[in-house]
Amino acid sequence: MFKKIAVIFILFAAPALMAQDSLVSHSFVGAETCGMCHKSEKQGEQIVIWKASGHSKAYETLKTAAADSIAKAKGLSTNAILSEACLKCHVSGYNINASLKTAKFKMEDGVQCETCHGAGADFKSLKVMKDIKVAEKNGLRVFKTDEERVALCKECHNSESPTFDSSKSDFSEMWNKIKHDIPKSSK
Ligand code: HEC
Ligand code: HEC
Ligand code: HEC
Ligand code: HEC
Repeated sequence: MFKKIAVIFILFAAPALMAQDSLVSHSFVGAETCGMCHKSEKQGEQIVIWKASGHSKAYETLKTAAADSIAKAKGLSTNAILSEACLKCHVSGYNINASLKTAKFKMEDGVQCETCHGAGADFKSLKVMKDIKVAEKNGLRVFKTDEERVALCKECHNSESPTFDSSKSDFSEMWNKIKHDIPKSSK
């Protein structure tokens, strides 16, 4: 049912939407591309923090025996690593058109910068990045309030996740484990 709707959408609605600037699809460039600029101490070492986090390993996790037994228990006929029902929260862009993945993009990098901040091909240049308003017009997603941030977390950290434990989901504590702000002094 859902698939049918999706196909109809692609055939008829998508070309109309593409014409609208704000809904143009942007290409994924991969975490390493973002990391070229977001690695110094002055910038806040975002790539270092991300690499140390569970998010960078979310794809690898699906290769484990534990993942396969979860998939099996859910009645899936494929291994976790091949299941849309698992990939949807464990990687960036699992279901996007191949033409939107640049050579540097690796699905194996799991939940990446672009999973949260939007596909970056059109905002990654220094000129655009320096003007956040323009960057946002070009696909950058930022989170201005605690509520917006928590809503992002809940897109995946929710009861649809087979291992979800609401008693361990204190989102401000979790944010402290992965936060990667630009140090105030360099703003
Ligand atoms: C060419 C260097 C460069 C690349 C590549 C780059 N950035 Fe940036 N980015 C910057 C700079 C510089 C700033 C800081 C702008 C400022 O402080 O005014 C920034 C700021 C940001 C911000 C903060 C916006 C805010 O709220 O102030 C986010 C989020 C961000 N970048 C995400 C990304 C992502 C995701 C990628 C990869 C798709 C990426 N950047 C690639 C240089 C870069
Ligand atoms: C709705 C999003 C979502 C879906 C769908 C999802 N996961 Fe996850 N998964 C998460 C999140 C978020 C975490 C980390 C926190 C947690 O355990 O809830 C996680 C963690 C895991 C872990 C590590 C648990 C641990 O305790 O270390 C495994 C294994 C896993 N998922 C397997 C799967 C498998 C297999 C599927 C498909 C059947 C799947 N996930 C589908 C979001 C999801
Ligand atoms: C799990 C989602 C997630 C991932 C993955 C992620 N970010 Fe963020 N990022 C956020 C959120 C949420 C904020 C807003 C923080 C806040 O509320 O202050 C943020 C803020 C930022 C900022 C701005 C900080 C500031 O001081 O304004 C930059 C720069 C940034 N991220 C870059 C990156 C880069 C580069 C990567 C990959 C190496 C990355 N992010 C990966 C969610 C994410
Ligand atoms: C696109 C889906 C997605 C989004 C959005 C997301 N996460 Fe995750 N997160 C995951 C998955 C999947 C894992 C499990 C990674 C693994 O262990 O393989 C995870 C793991 C984590 C972990 C490590 C688990 C632990 O307790 O050690 C933390 C912390 C975390 N996420 C925080 C956040 C925060 C905070 C946000 C919101 C700013 C967020 N996540 C948004 C998918 C997501």
